[in-house]
Amino acid sequence: MRYNTNQAILKRVEELFAKQDKKLQEMQAKILSQIQYTEKLNFAQNESFYWLAKRLNLKNALPPTRGWPMSPDVLLKLHEYVMSAKPKKIVEFGSGVSTLVICDALRQNSEGLLYSIDHSEQFGGQTLQNIKRESLENFVDLRIAPLEPWLSEHIHSDTKSVFWYQKECIGDICDIDLLIVDGPPGMTCPSARYPAVPALYDRLSPNAEVWLDDTSRSEEKKICETWAAKYNMNVKYFPLEKGLSVLIKK
Ligand SMILES: C[S@@+](CC[C@H](N)C(=O)[O-])C[C@H]1O[C@@H](n2cnc3c(N)ncnc32)[C@H](O)[C@@H]1O
Repeated sequence: MRYNTNQAILKRVEELFAKQDKKLQEMQAKILSQIQYTEKLNFAQNESFYWLAKRLNLKNALPPTRGWPMSPDVLLKLHEYVMSAKPKKIVEFGSGVSTLVICDALRQNSEGLLYSIDHSEQFGGQTLQNIKRESLENFVDLRIAPLEPWLSEHIHSDTKSVFWYQKECIGDICDIDLLIVDGPPGMTCPSARYPAVPALYDRLSPNAEVWLDDTSRSEEKKICETWAAKYNMNVKYFPLEKGLSVLIKK
């Protein structure tokens, strides 16, 4: 009787071990595939950075391109686009590494002007310092525009809770060939980047492109779909690291 009980316990312990072992193997396989996926993504960014660095004509290192700045893949695409399409007037919301990359392309083109708008004295100031270090001042008009309540058309009906750059900062800009929307930061308010197109649609040149970064995020995806529907624009999605959508007037 005692022998049978011990046998049963032993069998049960063996079963439990086998179950645990299977779970561990499954977890191991998941972790391995996640590591391989991340390695592939990082390698793709390294490749983009390599080709970007070869194109740039800068004296100093670029600031880091992880986290807040645009990723190397979109920066490379931007540099290539500016050098081939030669837009004369560019507006970007959210300054930083992108400002340096665009100005470098404009200098290589020997023409064009970037209006770079930032809500932050601190980050806008840093960008301006980097621009000066590279003697790129002639290619950018960097404007600090604190955020204020946005009272016009928005995805959100409660306009008291939405903010955007002081409108005066863009008052004199027209005939925009390229509009790059990478600010204000998403945490500022719901759908923080939505006002860019309502504010500037009438001032886009006929063949202008609108680039919205971070469209792998659901909020930016919704902004993009709403612009396309309300402003009658075609959208092309590029599956870059953070997702890029490019909109053009139909
Ligand atoms: C997405 S970032 C713009 C990045 C820029 N286009 C670039 O490529 O570097 C949007 C805004 O975040 C702010 N910002 C930049 N770095 C930040 C940081 N480390 N912490 C908080 N805000 C930051 C800046 O004011 C910037 O305009």
